[in-house]
Amino acid sequence: MSNRTRIFSGMQPSGEAHLGNYLGALRQWVDHQDDHDCYFCIVDQHALTGGHEPSELPRRVFDLAVSFLAVGLDPERSTIFVQSDVQEHTELAWLLNAVTPVGDLERMTQYKDKSSRLESIPAGLLNYPILQAADILLYRAERVPVGEDQLQHLELAREIARKWNHRFGEVFPEPRPILSGVGRILGLDGDAKMSKSLDNTVRILADSDEIWSRVRTAVTDPQRVRRDDPGRPEVCNVFSLHKHFTDPARIPDIADQCRAGTRGCVDCKRILADSIDEHFAPIRERARKFTERPGRVREILEAGAERARTEAARTMHEVRERMGLDWRRAAIATGPL
Ligand code: TRP
Repeated sequence: MSNRTRIFSGMQPSGEAHLGNYLGALRQWVDHQDDHDCYFCIVDQHALTGGHEPSELPRRVFDLAVSFLAVGLDPERSTIFVQSDVQEHTELAWLLNAVTPVGDLERMTQYKDKSSRLESIPAGLLNYPILQAADILLYRAERVPVGEDQLQHLELAREIARKWNHRFGEVFPEPRPILSGVGRILGLDGDAKMSKSLDNTVRILADSDEIWSRVRTAVTDPQRVRRDDPGRPEVCNVFSLHKHFTDPARIPDIADQCRAGTRGCVDCKRILADSIDEHFAPIRERARKFTERPGRVREILEAGAERARTEAARTMHEVRERMGLDWRRAAIATGPL
């Protein structure tokens, strides 16, 4: 395990995963396990900057953990854990504050977007990328699977690593992104990025009826008004979803029939809903088993946190020493202070 490249990635606990999480992140994470030493973290402390509901957070953490395990993240091969179980995340974040220019934080597009809508901006919203840098650097991860929207935060993490190393000595590798390669996954509205808060997605554990009732509402090529109008698969979001779920051998036919106006959008969505249903059937089954055994999920997260803490403690020992936070050692060297 130790000679493999270390990977870290995190996901906010917004509850059970949805198609966007799956296509944009989880699916790749599962594959990374074959050839990397992976740390996958449920970043509950990142969820505190958006006015969260405390009574809902534990459930959301649990549900996301079930999704992680159901899609095939494997606690035997990967370290799967909850951020707040490893206190060093917040400690390192504070220490990294020392080398992070406020100007860099203020330039982050996500910060600009979110803060522009608020009258009073929590400092945590500004400092969010420092905690993200701490997540990664704490495990000295070299690669970070992310979507394009996180590239700017990752570039800042590299910058922070560089500045810290320059001032205190080489401890942190500069983490590089691994792009998912699937681009932005558009929601069923065909307009915005898929997200739970926009209600434009499908839960990965939805049953057949729910999948259909969601997919049925998906926006298709707006120029195709009547059933036999010729469609344009290249601009249709439903068609782009087929590429992820439908048997590749069927896709050329689906495109041809759309262009010819011989297969209507409803039919096309029906096929998509069936493909999604089939794809997630075994995942739903695994999720059901984990949901029935919450104690097992808890055990897995505990064991993950234990492993993560060992690694985090190692890094922090060195970081504290290099930043002069080990006064006991100094007292021993120079006699009583
Ligand atoms: N900010 C990321 C997001 O919203 C989540 C995240 C937190 C993360 N810490 C991370 C991603 C570390 C990668 C690495 O998607």
